[in-house]
Amino acid sequence: RPRVLSGAQPTADSYHLGNYFGAFKQWVALQDDFEAFYFIPDLHAITIEYDPAALRERTYIAAAQLLAAGVDPQRSALFAQSHVPEHAQLAWVLSGITGFGEASRMTQFKDKTVKGGSESASVGLFTYPILMAADILIYQADSVPVGEDQRQHVELTRDLAQRFNHRFGETFTVPKPHIVKGVSKIYDLQEPTNKMSKSQSSPNGVIDLLDDPKKAAKKIRSAMTDSGSDIRYDVAEKPGISNLLTIYSALTGQSIDEIVTQYEGQQYGAFKVALSQIVADFVEPFGARTRELLSDRGELDRILAKGAERAREVASVTLDLVYDRSGFVRPV
Ligand code: TYM
Repeated sequence: RPRVLSGAQPTADSYHLGNYFGAFKQWVALQDDFEAFYFIPDLHAITIEYDPAALRERTYIAAAQLLAAGVDPQRSALFAQSHVPEHAQLAWVLSGITGFGEASRMTQFKDKTVKGGSESASVGLFTYPILMAADILIYQADSVPVGEDQRQHVELTRDLAQRFNHRFGETFTVPKPHIVKGVSKIYDLQEPTNKMSKSQSSPNGVIDLLDDPKKAAKKIRSAMTDSGSDIRYDVAEKPGISNLLTIYSALTGQSIDEIVTQYEGQQYGAFKVALSQIVADFVEPFGARTRELLSDRGELDRILAKGAERAREVASVTLDLVYDRSGFVRPV
């Protein structure tokens, strides 16, 4: 079976609706046809200032949310990145074939350092995309379901895989990004031309999956909408309402056209009230299920341990091959 791999950083107390639509929904769907590896990139999370106790707690919260979203530990390996040392080992090898200029062109690094400037950023934040490439290549993944903001990192991964294969012999599967149009970029509710982001959005711009349902509903009702009053999908002219239409469609399975027809002649207010209920009805059971899962840490530990065991079976084979191709004398 072809392989799928993806990860989502445990850098906030909750994942948000953008993570869910851009990534997790695809992760869950792909479990049927792929051998799946889904992980929590805790090694990536330490490239910005952070608190160790919070990281530990957020890693559990992340695992519980991924399970609540529908990642099935019977079929998929769900694990923490730090449990599988081969990720970091491969990253070091890949850093030797990554150009400094090439790494400097990664836009996420530039975005994350606009405020403080690159002087105060960590070297880890700079080399982050190389570790991400290792995450993907160590499993010989065919497909990588991510949001639009990760496309460039998957492109770098493809380049590194091809470069290694060319220099040292066929070693890596060259992965493809799996990016679903329409939902691959959910926007900030208050600034609908920016993406919904755990680090950059204001609290009212983001629906956290663990938001209290009433609070989530309120955020939808107070979402920024555009001038004019007709409800139609037009990202350039009407970014606010278009984003809400995307969310409505993603939650109900109705097409945007159907929704537009349904609300023809109605005001923004009526549409937002309807959507606020739909969002509340989504986060309510999601939060309840996550809390239930979080109440049994022992079970979460067991799921992560089993996932890591399965992951290492695959990762160790790739690393052996890579070390051999790289010219390292192998221990006897
Ligand atoms: P992260 O943790 O920022 O986000 C997790 C996933 O959610 C997607 N996403 C969005 N999709 C749509 N709309 C949005 N507003 C939105 N915000 C985030 C992201 O694209 C991502 O798919 N570098 C990765 C984590 C990572 C990874 C990997 C992913 C580490 N190693 C290997 C795939 C494969 C990141 O920071 O995603």
